[in-house]
Amino acid sequence: MKKITTKDSSITFYNEKVQDYYHSKSGAKEEAFEKHAKALNIYSKKNPVIFDVCFGLGYNTAAALDLIKGKAAIYCFENDIEILKKITEIDADFKSYNIIKKFIKNFLDNNIKIYEENNIKLVMIFGDARKKIKNIREKADFVFFDSFSPSKMPKMWTKEFFSDIREKMKQNSKLSTYSCAKFIRNNLKEAGFKVKDGPIIGRNSPGTIAINIK
Ligand SMILES: C[S@@+](CC[C@H](N)C(=O)[O-])C[C@H]1O[C@@H](n2cnc3c(N)ncnc32)[C@H](O)[C@@H]1O
Repeated sequence: MKKITTKDSSITFYNEKVQDYYHSKSGAKEEAFEKHAKALNIYSKKNPVIFDVCFGLGYNTAAALDLIKGKAAIYCFENDIEILKKITEIDADFKSYNIIKKFIKNFLDNNIKIYEENNIKLVMIFGDARKKIKNIREKADFVFFDSFSPSKMPKMWTKEFFSDIREKMKQNSKLSTYSCAKFIRNNLKEAGFKVKDGPIIGRNSPGTIAINIK
């Protein structure tokens, strides 16, 4: 796991096994705010339920917590202890990162999966997100989909997984992802989503917003 400083001064890592970065080198913090939390207008919904699919360093959840004023529940899907351990070693520049750190420390030290503070509830769903999603009872208003890239981890970008995620989303809820690849958008469409361009941030091409119009 190699530590990298991205162009907005925020830290990310390179995973040697997967041979991929956890974030865009143009700015890890910027990516969390602009491609996910702000791109989905998460503050437009009262008491949102959010799924952070591929939690990693927790930047997308931290950005969401920085923007949300009231109550929120965030389900955090991750399957690698090593990246969670990194959270305890870094200081990321989000107002809410101390909440993320406490949540992860409780999970790593005592296997406590639920963290509650004021109006915020964070739930760790540890394991393969493709299996775990099927057992989630609550439905999401927003989904941050932030897998390693389609070329490095194609099994995460399938029609089947997108369908299983969509099953657990409310009507008119939205999913964000950084990829705009045609086959990814086709898989999203085949899973029943309507797709549109997300913001263009740090790359030449836009991300994707997938809307669950049932
Ligand atoms: C591109 S990184 C996500 C970056 C993250 N959003 C952040 O803010 O750091 C992809 C993450 O997906 C996790 N992952 C890979 N396969 C997974 C699976 N089958 N289920 C759950 N998480 C998985 C990896 O361990 C990694 O942390």
